[in-house]
Amino acid sequence: MAKDALTITDQRTNTTYEAPVELGAIRAMELRKIKANPDDFGVMTYDPAFMNTAFCKSSITFIDGEKGILRYRGYDIETLAEHCTYLQVAYLLLFGELPNAQQEKEWVRDITHHTMLHENTKHFIDGFRYDAHPMGILASTLAALSTVYPEAKNIHDPANRQKQIVRLIAKMATLAAFSYRHRRGHPYVYPDNDLTYTENFMNMLWRMTEPKYVASPVIAHALDVLFILHADHEQNCSSTTMRVIGSAQTDPYLAMAGAAAALAGPLHGGANEEVLRMLDEIGSLKNVPAYIKRVKAGEIKLMGFGHRVYKNYDPRARIIKAVAEEVFDVTGHNDKLDIALELERIALQDDYFVSRKLYPNVDFYSGIIYQAMGFQPDMFTVLFAIPRAAGWLAQWNEMVQDPEQKIARPRQIYTGINHRKFPAGQEEKSAVKVG
Ligand code: CMC
Repeated sequence: MAKDALTITDQRTNTTYEAPVELGAIRAMELRKIKANPDDFGVMTYDPAFMNTAFCKSSITFIDGEKGILRYRGYDIETLAEHCTYLQVAYLLLFGELPNAQQEKEWVRDITHHTMLHENTKHFIDGFRYDAHPMGILASTLAALSTVYPEAKNIHDPANRQKQIVRLIAKMATLAAFSYRHRRGHPYVYPDNDLTYTENFMNMLWRMTEPKYVASPVIAHALDVLFILHADHEQNCSSTTMRVIGSAQTDPYLAMAGAAAALAGPLHGGANEEVLRMLDEIGSLKNVPAYIKRVKAGEIKLMGFGHRVYKNYDPRARIIKAVAEEVFDVTGHNDKLDIALELERIALQDDYFVSRKLYPNVDFYSGIIYQAMGFQPDMFTVLFAIPRAAGWLAQWNEMVQDPEQKIARPRQIYTGINHRKFPAGQEEKSAVKVG
């Protein structure tokens, strides 16, 4: 009878081992039993960039990259984007179920009442140079919040964790808006509790002298959908960073500062900024074929294309494309959309992209929408980070409660010099000084 196990024969010793297969995986520690001799450490797996390593068990987000499926807690992303608000989706990610009416009321009230920043934190933001990148401001200020809420380090207390989760989801929008206003040299706008999460974010970004900010419903809806699409994406680089830092029992503010730093990279959340630079560089439709030629020659990458997991159209990119149409009806046409559509059209027919299964990802169209809304490219990753806070915190909360998790500490394969003698005649400590 078939057994859920692998039979492994070590040809060095002619010994056979059995490794149980559970949920499509074998435990890497099973391999440590395989030794060439009793003193041997045992076999390890070598997996740079975690190409085939499950780092955790998780019940939050499901992706089928071959089929282009993304689900949060079992719900299709398309359904959530159509029927939910970002705060409902954040609740779903964090607690496993959509909130009922009473739960939603309490959740929205809690988030709304934690959007204020301590005045010291505001002064901290003031200290950045006038042209500081908003992502640098966000990541540093998240770390600084750890000094404002020292109790956050009690990570094993569920009520305390819940409090920090609410604070972080609430304050992300305020931190993002303040980093935007600082960059523009505009005074900060304090939160307005009468508004929804996205409307209030728009208020903190764009209110000038008017006594009450009135948000465009189309832009507020588009931002809300974009927030839903970006809220989680299972074990991506920044969520893994959140888990790794959190595994040392570091508080969630410092862990999230690390996650935000990972997101800032151009291969991760920074790609949307790069897409806009690329579209600017291409400049017009007639330059698209020459650009594609350079990509195929390996000179440059087509930013916003390709994904470690999706080998099909990224479902988020499809939804964003539809949102773009709604936004452009309000903001007017953006020529960059034409260039992006042409890039996509050519790439999807070209064997280079087809054979490598390179499709547009979430970042391909999001930047064009953000620009149409009036954001500079360096703000795009911050807009990604606001909702990703829900995913980072859901992943962190799951990790903290997982009895199988310990401090993350991978192994290495040492390839350096084994052992050598210190050079004779150099035993005296150096007295070299500069200047
Ligand atoms: N343009 C041109 N060629 C590409 C691209 C691209 N955007 N992406 C991958 N390739 C090629 C790559 O050169 C390689 O070709 P070959 O087999 O001839 O060496 C092949 O496709 C496989 O690529 P890979 O680098 O092994 O794939 P990966 O899984 O390590 O990288 C990626 C995934 C997202 C880092 C990569 O596709 C990329 O750099 N894309 C552009 C940046 C981008 O849009 N990032 C946003 C990702 S989605 C949002 C997020 O999750 O943060």
